[in-house]
Amino acid sequence: MTHLFEPFEIGALALANRIIVAPMCQYSADEGSAGDWHLIHLGHLALSGASMLIIEATAVSAEGRITAADLGLYSDANEAALARVLAAVRAHSPIAIGMQLAHAGRKASSRAPWQGGAQVPIGQPGGWPTVAPSAVPHAPGEQPPVGLDAAGMQKIRDDFARAATRAARLGIDGVEIHAAHGYLLHQFLSPIANQRDDAYGGSIENRMRFPLEIFDVVRAAFPPDRPVWARISATDWLPGGWDIDGTVALSRALKARGCAAIHVSSGGVSPQQKIQLGPGYQVPFAARVKAEVGLPTIAVGLITEPEQAEAIVAGGEADAVSLARAMLYDPRWPWHAAAALGARVVAPHQYWRSQPRQYKDLFENASFGAR
Ligand SMILES: Cc1cc2nc3c(=O)[nH]c(=O)nc-3n(C[C@H](O)[C@H](O)[C@H](O)COP(=O)(O)O)c2cc1C
Repeated sequence: MTHLFEPFEIGALALANRIIVAPMCQYSADEGSAGDWHLIHLGHLALSGASMLIIEATAVSAEGRITAADLGLYSDANEAALARVLAAVRAHSPIAIGMQLAHAGRKASSRAPWQGGAQVPIGQPGGWPTVAPSAVPHAPGEQPPVGLDAAGMQKIRDDFARAATRAARLGIDGVEIHAAHGYLLHQFLSPIANQRDDAYGGSIENRMRFPLEIFDVVRAAFPPDRPVWARISATDWLPGGWDIDGTVALSRALKARGCAAIHVSSGGVSPQQKIQLGPGYQVPFAARVKAEVGLPTIAVGLITEPEQAEAIVAGGEADAVSLARAMLYDPRWPWHAAAALGARVVAPHQYWRSQPRQYKDLFENASFGAR
């Protein structure tokens, strides 16, 4: 028995194995609404054999989108469009479906990566005023965001709660709160972006306050028998920035509030970051969170090989792994991992005949005949 293919639980959500499809923005929505691209994209990833598919960063408001083409869940039209996609996916795959709820803060109003990813100036198509904890731009020379006041923060709490209610109606199995990658909640956590001098800035307790309030409103709006967890950047990769000690403190505070897991990523708050890239480069952060907090922990980042993923879980560094780029490159990665590790995986019956001769027991319950 491999460890990677052992069942696993996030709160009450039972997962068939420890391979998760990481959230991946597609910048392909229309006014926040999913379309045929999402049906194709999520549909094929749902056949991957992973235990859970986390839907991309899904904006809780129009102004919280990274680009004008981001997926959103802030209107009835957005909800109806996702319902159509989810019905198709669910009809053909048992995969658990998570959703990442997000607000981009000062990194909103951007172009898609394939258009260069730069800020879109206010007034140009796809450009709008952004908000953040403080009126500090992400990069020098960019138009600064508006520092949030009490009413602006209340709107964001309400937007997260409403989106969580919509996610619940859609039958989403679990919500991941995006508190990583330099987006709004990470901006509150990091002293680089948060220069407030009120109850939401300064000490780590103050900087954690708004992200924790968002956790509370999402947790309250989502059914208690379905998990809510957070994705955190473990470090800003910059002196004086958010760091792993803060990440452990935040994870403990989240755990006390009923958070079901921590998804450990890093970086994104400043273009000055100096990331030390390499295979599994964020796994040591996940290992510290798992050891010191004790919540189910998901490791991510340059995990590309089945043996590498198996070692991370078997060695107790994380409870599960999530993959992004490797999963796009090879959407049957979990099948190939199961084959390499001698495990079994669920595959759609339409594809059972593809089982290679040397892996006679790869697909669960597979059988076929002909006359
Ligand atoms: C196309 C693409 C879109 C992404 N969009 C998101 C996103 O919506 N939310 C998020 O938290 N991370 C996002 N990421 C980051 C991934 O989830 C992941 O953390 C990162 O790519 C490192 O994992 P990998 O080495 O397996 O790709 C994205 C990455 C890619 C490649």
